[in-house]
Amino acid sequence: MAERLSRRIVIIGRNGQLARELAELAWPDDLHPHFLGRGEINLFDADDIRAQLESLRPVAIINTAAYTAVDKAETERVLATLLNAEVPALLGQVTARLRIPHLHLSTDYVFAGIRDSPYREDDAVAPTSIYGQSKRAGEMALLAATTPTLILRSAGLFGRHGHNMLKTVLTLARGIQPIRMVTDQISTPTPAADLAVTLQEMAIDMIDGRALPRILHMAGQPAVSWYSFTAAILGVLHESGRTQLPDLLPARLVDLGRPAPRPRYSALDCSLAASLGYTVPDWQATLPGLMAQLGQGRIAA
Ligand SMILES: NC(=O)c1ccc[n+]([C@@H]2O[C@H](COP(=O)([O-])OP(=O)(O)OC[C@H]3O[C@@H](n4cnc5c(N)ncnc54)[C@H](OP(=O)(O)O)[C@@H]3O)[C@@H](O)[C@H]2O)c1
Repeated sequence: MAERLSRRIVIIGRNGQLARELAELAWPDDLHPHFLGRGEINLFDADDIRAQLESLRPVAIINTAAYTAVDKAETERVLATLLNAEVPALLGQVTARLRIPHLHLSTDYVFAGIRDSPYREDDAVAPTSIYGQSKRAGEMALLAATTPTLILRSAGLFGRHGHNMLKTVLTLARGIQPIRMVTDQISTPTPAADLAVTLQEMAIDMIDGRALPRILHMAGQPAVSWYSFTAAILGVLHESGRTQLPDLLPARLVDLGRPAPRPRYSALDCSLAASLGYTVPDWQATLPGLMAQLGQGRIAA
């Protein structure tokens, strides 16, 4: 009993969006989440990573740490590659030695985004940004892993923590300037809290010996442009009685002149994960409750 009570799952990352959602979940009594943020582990020191994980002896690892600044990555390829590819590769070696499941996060930005139907796990990748290329390099490092390994691709996380599109829109909605959002970038925005729940379920299943495909997609449905996603947020504010809202204007990716190219269409098809029993989140259903938690809007009686 005492041994079971001491089972530990290591989660790399502490203050990121997903790590904070994982920290707020209820975990089974016999599985203790142990978070390693940058204050606890030096991801630039391979010996530190190896030594810490080998002494903690976890039953699984979830790596939420990543270089996620998509535009900045265009000028910081080395750093992005280190965090998004070299660290995952090293974690892959450690998890193989410890023979424990390894859960890794990846992104819709591994796809070129030049088609009009949702991407499945086995569709060809062709990342156009440095961020996407570095994340793909991380996937490549883990595809041949000899221990149970899951690469969970998601997209456009939003929630209570960190920087995300929902919080950006809520801030802009307090102002009077028109909000410009792109109509030509279509994605599948994902409630971070729902992704954390699925990740926890998958981790527990893998610890219990369930074999999962090497890559799975999990993202909010339906696919939507950032313009329409913003309209939905403003709609909830309007329904909850906010009378003064800025105008929403359509823009095109090319008009924004951002350093990193974005996939024009990168909706993730999550039917494989759904067929395995995992719930695919509906971002529209999540929005009102989440906004109420953020003190914006209220849930209709
Ligand atoms: N955000 C999205 O829209 C999105 C979409 C698709 C996929 N993903 C993937 O999902 C995963 C989680 O994303 P997220 O949104 O939670 O990311 P995030 O909020 O940007 O958090 C990044 C995490 O990485 C850690 N980290 C970054 N640089 C570090 C460094 N130099 N040393 C140590 N730790 C460092 C941070 O550590 P601290 O905890 O110490 O701050 C933090 O926990 C990532 O793999 C990301 O690529 C994200």
